[in-house]
Amino acid sequence: MTLSGKRILLIIGGGIAAYKSLDLIRRLRERGASVRCVMTSAAREFVTPLSVGALTADHVFTDLFDRQDEHDVGHIRLARGADLVVVAPATADLMAKLAGGHANDLASTVLLAADKTVLMAPAMNPSMWSHAATRRNRAQLEKDGIAFVGPNTGEMAESGEAGAGRMAEPLEIVAAVEALLDSRPKPLAGRKIIVTSGPTHEPIDPVRYIANRSSGKQGHAIAAALARLGADVRLVSGPVAIPDPAGVTTIHVERAEEMRDAVEQLLPADAAIFVAAVADWRTADAVGQKIKKVAGKGPPSLKMVENPDILAGIGHHKKRPYLVVGFAAETQDVLKNAEAKLKKKGADFIIANDVGPSGTSSGGVMGGDRNRVKIVSRTGVEEWPEMGKDDVAERLAVLIAERLKTTSV
Ligand code: CTP
Repeated sequence: MTLSGKRILLIIGGGIAAYKSLDLIRRLRERGASVRCVMTSAAREFVTPLSVGALTADHVFTDLFDRQDEHDVGHIRLARGADLVVVAPATADLMAKLAGGHANDLASTVLLAADKTVLMAPAMNPSMWSHAATRRNRAQLEKDGIAFVGPNTGEMAESGEAGAGRMAEPLEIVAAVEALLDSRPKPLAGRKIIVTSGPTHEPIDPVRYIANRSSGKQGHAIAAALARLGADVRLVSGPVAIPDPAGVTTIHVERAEEMRDAVEQLLPADAAIFVAAVADWRTADAVGQKIKKVAGKGPPSLKMVENPDILAGIGHHKKRPYLVVGFAAETQDVLKNAEAKLKKKGADFIIANDVGPSGTSSGGVMGGDRNRVKIVSRTGVEEWPEMGKDDVAERLAVLIAERLKTTSV
């Protein structure tokens, strides 16, 4: 019951994603939160106050000028009585209203009167999300301290169009709510930390690429764990199938060189954690046209060149972060190789994991949910028992916070 006793005010905006808000109510209540709902008039075109009220087990508020509601609760008390205000789906219109300070219906009035954190889960068509006006509104809202979760990239329910604009899934919104209401100490507050995660894709031609089995699970979990401890996390992610972690700024890249450029642009930082499985090589010259099979000519030979080593580049950079952490994926001589990488790459820690082929005791690390790591530093080796990738991430975040404690923010 992670949200036991917490009072959530959920504002449902008018969008097809409103159906997911019904599930969101259930998920929040399952965790012990009480949920009270405000619906805009557009929201009522998509889901009914009857179903929302049945799920919240409470009255549903819809009208600023409802004399009974104003007498019983009042819009100011509605806004102030919650521990957190969640807007899901947050439409372009609701974002624009709050960014501009409008208050001409119950939802916008409550938002303006709220004195607690507001979390928005935007949902709209990709062209509306990428419109300059929406981008401007989002920047303004972020400046004003509004938190965001999503939107995700994917197919739109109504048009089948693909792109960013899909509302975050209910469980992602719940995770963001939990993070915002987490009152544990934030030892990494004021720290900027870069994390790389996922594989890189190195193109051969417009339709083919070289990749590896990294899922991004470990890197994303580390980014989320650092954010939970209060860090300003910048996650540079290669192509992965998992969602962006809540509370983290994610930069999406494809190739190793793009990942290197993104990381360098993020300097200076207090720490950098290199979890990405960067492709060691790329093709010397990816061609602009699809390589065709030519009868009698046989398969093409690919000329490979080495990719930049991003970790080594940052480990020896003139703007080197105070703490540099690398991973070592090994199939043999795990410790010996990790120690060599520590020196060669200028890292403070190497987190060594044995990624033996699946079927062996250590197999299945890449793509799997569990990990068994050894923390190698200049002062020695610490072995951690096998645990879930989320637990490795939590423990590592605590270790990083310990190490950064001695430096000034
Ligand atoms: N790394 C990197 N850039 C690269 C290659 C690796 O930043 N071009 C980082 C990884 O993110 C990881 C560490 O270096 O933190 C070690 O990666 P690993 O693949 O284990 O080592 P390699 O340097 O590629 O050496 P080898 O493949 O020979 O084991």
